[in-house]
Amino acid sequence: MINHSPSQKSKEYYIGLMSGTSADGIDLALVTFDNNSKPQLHGRFYHPYSTAVAHKITALYNPNHNEIDRAFELDIELAQLFSQAIKAFLTQEKLALNDIIAIGSHGQTIRHRPQAKHPFTLQIGCCQTLATLTNIRVIGQFRRKDMALGGQGAPLVPAFHQIIFSENTPSESSIADGSIKNGHDVFVVNIGGIANLTFLPADANETVIGYDTGTGNALMDDWFQLHHPKSNNNYDKNGDWAASGKVNTALLKQLLSDHYCQLAPPKSTGREYFNLSWLETQLAQVKLVTSQDVQATLSAFTALTIVNAIKQHCGDEKALIKVYLCGGGVHNQVLKNQVNHQLKLHIKNYELLLTNQKDIDGDQLEAVAFAWLAFAYDKKLLSSMPAVTGASKSCTLGNEYYP
Ligand SMILES: Nc1ncnc2c1ncn2[C@@H]1O[C@H](COP(=O)(O)OP(=O)(O)OP(=O)(O)O)[C@@H](O)[C@H]1O
Ligand SMILES: [Mg+2]
Repeated sequence: MINHSPSQKSKEYYIGLMSGTSADGIDLALVTFDNNSKPQLHGRFYHPYSTAVAHKITALYNPNHNEIDRAFELDIELAQLFSQAIKAFLTQEKLALNDIIAIGSHGQTIRHRPQAKHPFTLQIGCCQTLATLTNIRVIGQFRRKDMALGGQGAPLVPAFHQIIFSENTPSESSIADGSIKNGHDVFVVNIGGIANLTFLPADANETVIGYDTGTGNALMDDWFQLHHPKSNNNYDKNGDWAASGKVNTALLKQLLSDHYCQLAPPKSTGREYFNLSWLETQLAQVKLVTSQDVQATLSAFTALTIVNAIKQHCGDEKALIKVYLCGGGVHNQVLKNQVNHQLKLHIKNYELLLTNQKDIDGDQLEAVAFAWLAFAYDKKLLSSMPAVTGASKSCTLGNEYYP
């Protein structure tokens, strides 16, 4: 529970709601924003999904029988779970309905096909049902307009990362000597189900870049669950199982040859691509690898694709770069060590940080970003980044739903 300061005016909170590709649970963040869009996090809530719900979600990531019935029933079921989580959160924070301006809901992605002949992305957790059940206005379907404008609809967080992490505000001295460059090149790496990177250049004249680097935790979760059907955990806690194996060089090379790793941005991906069938195709290309060595190699693959991406955007070898890590992957010690190890090998001067150093817990960052997208909708801010997604122009993302 948080202490709301007496000066805290009521009715100025946004709730950000995130249900990520790992299908682990619902993250909620209670946030206020100042006039410069700077967020202040006042409270958080996490509701893990039951195994049954997680299975219903992951079963929709790939084509299978009777998808329409299953997807649209789950659309409503998730909205009901979101609504229950919101109500529990309001009780926890001792807030009333009218303290909340709006909910910014990402929903749950079940299919993301930016490369299809008719590209689409599908997030469920019906916004209308959520608004009606909670009696709070909902802003959601943030990816649609960017896609309508020819963009990938992902990643959407770089615009928010820029507000929090960018160090490119030109100082008076740098303007005077014409260098504009000030601060450092900053990278924000979110290791969720899929990993995504935002590059915030120190040079204010350079554009922000953001894209999915490839696998994050989800494929390791899938492989872990396949080999530990009786475990109470849905994931390899701390990376202990990966630590019991060795990175297999031949497999790592095979994984790195995948065409997504070679694609130039803008690019985005999902679990419809990086899944167990993809992994089985890769494993068929190499000699037999033990299951724990596969896990160690998947972890190294995630770390290496992240660091390879960072490397591509590093200009001046001597300049210090800052790398902020967030997302569930930061709790995987083996993965974090591998990222650090690869950075050491490839980057001369870097600082590896957690987003907590900027007062935002890495587990809440995405939920706070969706609260910001709702705030940006209300303020009519341009919240998309066409340079990141490839859309033809920038726009205010989202649609609103009234109770
Ligand atoms: N203690 C831990 N040890 C190892 N892995 C962990 C631990 N805690 C969380 N994780 C990993 O983090 C994952 C959840 O991360 P997160 O919530 O950031 O992903 P997400 O919901 O898919 O988000 P995104 O939408 O950004 O992909 C879990 O599925 C698990 O793999
Ligand atoms: Mg999550």
